[in-house]
Amino acid sequence: MQTVNVDLGDRSYPIFIGADLLKDDSILAPYLGKGRVIVVTNEVVAPLYLETVKDLLGKQFSSVIILPDGEETKSLDTIAGIYDHLLEGKYDRKTGLVALGGGVIGDITGFAAATYQRGINFIQIPTTLLAQVDSSVGGKTGVNHALGKNMIGSFYQPQCVIADTEVLGSFRRGKSKPAWRKY
Ligand SMILES: NC(=O)c1ccc[n+]([C@@H]2O[C@H](COP(=O)([O-])OP(=O)(O)OC[C@H]3O[C@@H](n4cnc5c(N)ncnc54)[C@H](O)[C@@H]3O)[C@@H](O)[C@H]2O)c1
Repeated sequence: MQTVNVDLGDRSYPIFIGADLLKDDSILAPYLGKGRVIVVTNEVVAPLYLETVKDLLGKQFSSVIILPDGEETKSLDTIAGIYDHLLEGKYDRKTGLVALGGGVIGDITGFAAATYQRGINFIQIPTTLLAQVDSSVGGKTGVNHALGKNMIGSFYQPQCVIADTEVLGSFRRGKSKPAWRKY
């Protein structure tokens, strides 16, 4: 496993990179905080990796939000739905959100985490190459507006990023076509 420490003072965080990291619960444990944890994912990624991540979270796993696939989901309507889930479940400031998916899920989840009760715990488990090398790094979170892409957002750093290179294998196995692959 390689660890890249992003040095941002009191918002510093590690990025763990390697194979089969989702099978090792000792990596995530120190970053989970003390509250309940909600996994935010989508209908493509959930059947592939949700059970593994639930096992990883153990007793702290509380619920899951499974969003439709696609860039259209990156909207304020989706954020409002996540707030509804959090408020209806009486989730407090100790709650953590885990983003399990590509850049779309990471951007949505990060923005919800940045804004719910002025900021709650946020962990990224990026599952596309773009998300592992780009969108999960740097703290840019947000959603699209009808008048422009990424027009509403915030800089918000996660507690940690777990980039398990094995999850990229589900593209090779043909479970999904990444947006850039055309045939
Ligand atoms: N925050 C940032 O700094 C930053 C940087 C670059 C891009 N972005 C944003 O990232 C988004 C694009 O991210 P993306 O390219 O990851 O697209 P995406 O999140 O839509 O994922 C691409 C497709 O792959 C599927 N998928 C995800 N993981 C999979 C896996 N392991 N196996 C099989 N299928 C899988 C998804 O369901 C989707 O259909 C855009 O919204 C863009 O604005 C953000």
